[in-house]
Amino acid sequence: MARRRLVYEGKAKILYEGPEPGTLIQHFKDDATAFNAEKRDVIEGKGVLNNRISEHIMSGLNSIGVPTHFIKRLNMREQLVRACEIIPLEVVVRNVAAGSLSKRLGIEEGTALPRPIIEFYYKDDKLGDPMVTEEHILAFNWASQQDVDDIIALALRVNDFLAGMMLGVGIRLVDFKIECGRIYEGDFQRIVVADEISPDSCRLWDLRTGRKLDKDVFRRDLGSLTDAYAEVASRLGIMPRGGSGKTGPQLVH
Ligand SMILES: Nc1ncnc2c1ncn2[C@@H]1O[C@H](COP(=O)(O)OP(=O)(O)OP(=O)(O)O)[C@@H](O)[C@H]1O
Ligand SMILES: [Mg+2]
Repeated sequence: MARRRLVYEGKAKILYEGPEPGTLIQHFKDDATAFNAEKRDVIEGKGVLNNRISEHIMSGLNSIGVPTHFIKRLNMREQLVRACEIIPLEVVVRNVAAGSLSKRLGIEEGTALPRPIIEFYYKDDKLGDPMVTEEHILAFNWASQQDVDDIIALALRVNDFLAGMMLGVGIRLVDFKIECGRIYEGDFQRIVVADEISPDSCRLWDLRTGRKLDKDVFRRDLGSLTDAYAEVASRLGIMPRGGSGKTGPQLVH
């Protein structure tokens, strides 16, 4: 098999050149990092689960007309995506207080917010992804006013879609992060949802018990991360329980 050209290796994923111009292959690794990579581990099966869960969410978004970079899944760990120019922002949407919002503003975790709150963080690992406002984004030209308006509209549509999808399987969408990218089509530019949407980039709590089904399980040492992610995948009907993605004989108890 011909060797693929590596475009970028990040903490959780690898990007390879895709088969057509303007495409990339996104490969999901098993590496988990938190607190700006101060805590790290390899968690077998995580990449497989995130690939499938992100595929499910992105193709759902595509089907309701929310543009994403997702084209198709290629195998258990890889998906074909459209290459885009990533806007250097992490766009966070919050429905319920948790994490840094609770810490900074002294709002108890689990408090429902009166409306979705959107926050922007400047993507720069050396700076620890600092929070920024629209003023910074415009002043430093990371995105135009039109881009920011488009990003906010996209983020709110993703929020409505994802909150509904999760609610349908008994999960509360507390918050999530997206990255957006620009795609050029002739003279036009379009903003799409890029990167991944998975339990690595969302906070998901069981509606009934409050059990955490997201990366906080890893951040806070709350048990098996793959069990939590497999629970999400199985409730969404996209993978059998067990989580590793391996098929074959199932042990019958
Ligand atoms: N469609 C796309 N086109 C180009 N780049 C993309 C696309 N989707 C995601 N990316 C970028 O690919 C990388 C994915 O790798 P990973 O998530 O492991 O990175 P990371 O270690 O979190 O680092 P970063 O701080 O750059 O996100 C990210 O830099 C992300 O911004
Ligand atoms: Mg990333």
